[in-house]
Amino acid sequence: MFSYRHAFHAGNHADVLKHLTWLAILRYLGQKDTALQIVDTHAGAGQYRLDQGHARTSAESDAGILRLMTAAETAAARAQAIPHAVADYLNTVKQFNADGRVRVYPGSPWISQTLLRPQDKLKLFEVHPTDAKLLSKQVEELGKGKQIEVLRRSGFDGLKALLPPPSRRGAVLIDPSYELKTDYPAVLDCLEDALKRFPTGTYAVWYPIIARPEAHALARKLKALGTRLQRPWLQAELNVGLLPEEGTAAKVAQGQHHGGMRASGMHVINPPFTLAAQLRESLPWALAALREPVGASWSVTPSSP
Ligand SMILES: C[S@@+](CC[C@H](N)C(=O)[O-])C[C@H]1O[C@@H](n2cnc3c(N)ncnc32)[C@H](O)[C@@H]1O
Repeated sequence: MFSYRHAFHAGNHADVLKHLTWLAILRYLGQKDTALQIVDTHAGAGQYRLDQGHARTSAESDAGILRLMTAAETAAARAQAIPHAVADYLNTVKQFNADGRVRVYPGSPWISQTLLRPQDKLKLFEVHPTDAKLLSKQVEELGKGKQIEVLRRSGFDGLKALLPPPSRRGAVLIDPSYELKTDYPAVLDCLEDALKRFPTGTYAVWYPIIARPEAHALARKLKALGTRLQRPWLQAELNVGLLPEEGTAAKVAQGQHHGGMRASGMHVINPPFTLAAQLRESLPWALAALREPVGASWSVTPSSP
């Protein structure tokens, strides 16, 4: 059960898609003064060192955040514009790396906490004993008191008690590891229950695009759920493709290649109205930096009005 550690994957292409989208959502919601409740149902450890430990073993960030950062530096040197949401994401990452070299990567709780205003609250669920301990320690060091709460229990179950938020404004990130097959139906059940309790909240679900029937079905079922409950949704996918020796474009699209995950998606319910345009500008730019030669693609699909 506890074999997944996000430290192996921190800053990879999936984190780029997830965190760029999450940051754009929170920025938009933060434009109104009313208090926001932000919930991360699967928080991970908080911040990650990219230059040592698990992250260095896997080196996934080399083809993710580090490539994106290099592309941004090249663009800046050529006085070329960078999409606003990409620049915002990279500047957020840079905040944790004073000398400009990215050694520390902020996971979703850390991205969320940089945007907290005094009236906002952040609730973080994490069940892995080691990661929950790391997260609690880092949160304590921030000294934000009761504004940030780490809950060492399942986010799927724990979310219920937090909805609707007292201010009726909130955003929920649902980012399981999908280590267990049961995570797939649990996402749908959790989301349906949450939408009944708090229909106007913004919900962002990350999902992998891999060769598993449950994974293929999830993207489709998420769309159907939003449509059935009459909530607007947006689905954004980023597929970084393969090296020529690794496979064909068709295999990449299906997630049926050998090797690591190359594609993932973000499903957002009640998205900010600005999000589709921001992602349509940002994803091709990000993909130009992250893509391998075969089968790379991006898409942004909103629900029909
Ligand atoms: C993909 S990682 C989270 C990464 C993090 N959201 C980020 O973007 O930085 C998934 C995390 O969920 C934890 N986890 C697994 N099942 C859980 C559950 N039912 N409730 C809360 N956390 C869970 C895992 O231990 C792992 O740390």
